Amino acid sequence: MIPALLHPYCVEAAALISQVGGTQFDPNEIDSVVPTNNPANGDYQWNFALRIAKLAKANPRALAEQMRLAFLGKPGVKDAQVAGPGFINIYLDSSWLAARLAVQVADPEMGVAPEGHNRTVIIDYSSPNVAKRMHVGHMRSTHIGDVLVRLHRAAKWNVIGDNHLGDWGTQFGKLIVAWNRWRDEDAYARDPVAELERIYVLFGVHAENQPELDELARAETVKLQQGDAANRALWADFLEKSLTEYNAVYQRMGVKFDEMLGESAYRDHTERIVADLLADGVAEESEGAVIVRLGDQVSVVRKRDGASTYTTTDLACVQYRVERWNPDRMVYVTDVRQQQHFATFFSVAKRWNVRSELVHVGFGMLKLPEGTMSTRSGNTIRLVDLLDETVARARSVVDEKSGSIPEDERAEIAEAVGTGAVRYQDLVQSPGTDVSFDWKRMLAMDGNSAPYLLYSHARACSLLRKAGGEGWSPNGSTIVLEHSFERDLALGLLRYPEAFSAALRNAAPNTLAEHVYRMCELFNRFYYELPVLTGGDARQSRLELVEASRRVIAHGLRTLGLHPLERM
Ligand code: ARG
Repeated sequence: MIPALLHPYCVEAAALISQVGGTQFDPNEIDSVVPTNNPANGDYQWNFALRIAKLAKANPRALAEQMRLAFLGKPGVKDAQVAGPGFINIYLDSSWLAARLAVQVADPEMGVAPEGHNRTVIIDYSSPNVAKRMHVGHMRSTHIGDVLVRLHRAAKWNVIGDNHLGDWGTQFGKLIVAWNRWRDEDAYARDPVAELERIYVLFGVHAENQPELDELARAETVKLQQGDAANRALWADFLEKSLTEYNAVYQRMGVKFDEMLGESAYRDHTERIVADLLADGVAEESEGAVIVRLGDQVSVVRKRDGASTYTTTDLACVQYRVERWNPDRMVYVTDVRQQQHFATFFSVAKRWNVRSELVHVGFGMLKLPEGTMSTRSGNTIRLVDLLDETVARARSVVDEKSGSIPEDERAEIAEAVGTGAVRYQDLVQSPGTDVSFDWKRMLAMDGNSAPYLLYSHARACSLLRKAGGEGWSPNGSTIVLEHSFERDLALGLLRYPEAFSAALRNAAPNTLAEHVYRMCELFNRFYYELPVLTGGDARQSRLELVEASRRVIAHGLRTLGLHPLERM
């Protein structure tokens, strides 16, 4: 990718060699301008000449020499030099960088490209299976999905976040059987989801040596699906009670959905979907079932007993979404184990002329350290317990470090730090990898943790508060990037939109997290090494740089769903 700062120059440079060896390329493909690690090599390095040289069978250094000319004398470019086998090293002008930074931080979206142009995206995330407690598995979907929502929104996509609740599955048949046999109404009144969970577990235990229970459960599910009044009433009540509990957890996690259209919303459409698929020649009957053939695989859309499948529901859901929103993109966030389901379902949807871009973001497991938390029900760890435990641990750190802050503010800080630490731990690793839970690391004040990021932001706020007490306020006056620590920090802030776009393009919140961490490191180095309030002639410029850092870091924190505290 090419940073917006350099894009026009790169297009011009590429045009200079477009005739060599008859090479043809699309200006959208002139990629891979990367930040350098060593300032001696400039601020950015471009290897395009090397790539084209292969195609054109030309000398890469000669091509680079030609392309270099397009950069010379351009606003902001101090120099461009050919290095190594044919890289172009680009050196940017510090006062130009400062001016660009001023423009970036005056933008409420901190320079993030509005690539969405009001296109529509649906993010399908969280989606727990109702009547069971939300457990840590759904936490990752919720955190990752929420950041995808925030990333798209800042880039001016029109976003619909949809919680596709599992509220119509066979678990209800089991629950109804269990309810009719083992319910404890007092317990249900006190803590409904706990009671549902208790009887659900009980069902599993009994069904092991009474297989007829499964038969009964199937019958209850059929009755429910056919509209039996008693079963519908139980279902509605279980659903309502579960949602009350879920909503409290979502609120704590800082997550809001635009829609909560669960599987049950599509229950009356699956038959029509099967009929349409047959009529459109996408599906066919086979041994009493209805299937879609995909190469040597088949996808079942109606089972022999007439029941629809997870795929049928997803197809009904896609059709609904296309009719209602006509989305350009649909993103589904689930456990990687559902990869096969989505691959198949996407193929069927495409065959069925669904034109939206379909994306599955699969995430790895969350591993908890053995024996660290009591598991009240089986092996699933409840999300609320995890949040409570982390907030309690954060609270003791806050009490110890910031005893002078009033009690209720300390409680708020601990809540933001604790829930933020759980969230950040989840986001900082790439979605596909497994995450291991580690309280020590996630609550550490140094290193790549939420407390470190939040603290860096609070430090900037505190510095600005002090300056404010001395009568200073930011007025957007010129920043001078004289010292390398100032310049590096400014460049880090200017690269924020690049990191943002990369995170959005690859559905990788970790790319953004890494960059926010990097900006905090650069900010802290600047803060420790250079005097700000007592900076003499540099004071004004440095305070403006602190203000710029605060804004960009806050935007990053908010996009990650962390609460940028003003003090802690
Ligand atoms: N309820 C499912 C689960 O907990 C996830 C649903 C994902 N979304 C979808 N449209 N299939 O595994």
